[in-house]
Amino acid sequence: MNIKIEKLPEKELKPLFGDPSQLGFGKVFTDYMFTMRYSPGDGWSEPKISKYDSLTIGPAAVVLHYSQEIFEGLKAYAAEDGRILLFRPEENGKRMYDSAERICMAPFPVEYFLESINTLVNLEKRWIPKAPGTSLYIRPTLIGVGDALGIHPASEYLFYIILTPVSAYFKEGFKPIRLYVEDYYIRAVVGGVGNAKTGGNYAASLLAGAKAQEKGFSQVLWLDARERKYVEEVGAMNIFFVFGKKIVTPNLSGSILPGITRKSVIELAKSHGYTVEERMISIDEVIAGIKDGSLTESFGSGTAAVISPVGSLNYKGEDYLVNNNQVGAVTQELYTKLVDIQYGRVKDPFGWIKEIGRI
Ligand code: PLP
Ligand code: COI
Repeated sequence: MNIKIEKLPEKELKPLFGDPSQLGFGKVFTDYMFTMRYSPGDGWSEPKISKYDSLTIGPAAVVLHYSQEIFEGLKAYAAEDGRILLFRPEENGKRMYDSAERICMAPFPVEYFLESINTLVNLEKRWIPKAPGTSLYIRPTLIGVGDALGIHPASEYLFYIILTPVSAYFKEGFKPIRLYVEDYYIRAVVGGVGNAKTGGNYAASLLAGAKAQEKGFSQVLWLDARERKYVEEVGAMNIFFVFGKKIVTPNLSGSILPGITRKSVIELAKSHGYTVEERMISIDEVIAGIKDGSLTESFGSGTAAVISPVGSLNYKGEDYLVNNNQVGAVTQELYTKLVDIQYGRVKDPFGWIKEIGRI
């Protein structure tokens, strides 16, 4: 790939953020973005890094009418010794490829995905925050842009990457969050697109999320679409339940996102002596476990959310406290092990970390 870089004059660069611990999530964007276009004649062409700017697409672009859009989320971490680290970026590249195939888009080649991220992040390295718990969030996006109102896949595509320095995703930080178990609205159904990272899944989740937030909950815990019986995942995370030395997480049924943090937590937990079961788990089993004390902890996992302890579940109007609304030892242990690897503080025995440059 021969990436054209249109550098900005020094005086046009944005001032950096202030206190990095106050960044929140996705509010500040860096100076540059990466773009690449697809057309049937040229295939993927015109790889370019230029100023972070508005896009020009036609009002009949397929993405605007039929939601032909997918995205990814990963982070660049600054290690204390100055290395710039990515966490399993090829997994994001592969998932984006699969998401594209699911909604009939021209898939973006994984090698281009990795090279474009490496080049953009290195150019933007001054934006990687260094305070504890902060990182540079990377948002690769693919949209169908050919103008056509018939219901067909777009003929042209735009792939782009934007970057945003972030701190904690939840305002609570690494504190237990309150989840609302949604037993009316659903997020996705087996056979649908729940396992693809496509914007429509998030649009479908907004109303339930907003209602839950109005009532003071951080996010929704989704149940399966058929019976409203089995636990699926959280708004922006996969979900885990701890029963002593056994950890249970819903299996990849087709309606939940195959999280890369989820996959990593499973490997990490197994390597630390836990038994991990990927299986259907009903909300009744969860509530019964809380009541009889066998369910000792619960946490969510995701790139933005990292590992987030769950302090309580609200189901059918009742609040159920998990581990007395405290961060549990297993959650704490897995969180520390995971972030120590991500920030390059310990040796990575799994080969997850990719060093892409130096600050
Ligand atoms: N589930 C949903 C709905 C998500 O949006 C995310 C975030 O990406 C996850 C799960 C976790 O996936 P990952 O660990 O790959 O970030
Ligand atoms: C992520 O964790 O990367 C996500 O995509 C979750 C959310 C911000 C959509």
